[in-house]
Amino acid sequence: MVVCHCHAVSDREIRAQVANGALDAEQLAERCGVGDRCGGCASVVEAILVEEKVNLHGSLATAAA
Ligand code: FES
Repeated sequence: MVVCHCHAVSDREIRAQVANGALDAEQLAERCGVGDRCGGCASVVEAILVEEKVNLHGSLATAAA
């Protein structure tokens, strides 16, 4: 599913970037551009970021760090 229409970035790409060490929305923007133009995808990007960190690290407390 395309999440960022400005840069044609999918949720899959965002999840891959988190798995490869992107820790926050700023780092995701640096790596693939998500959220750095209109900002319309920002809330979805943030939700995927938290979800993926929980999947990778196992808890919301760790994911928020
Ligand atoms: S939809 Fe992602 S920056 Fe515009």
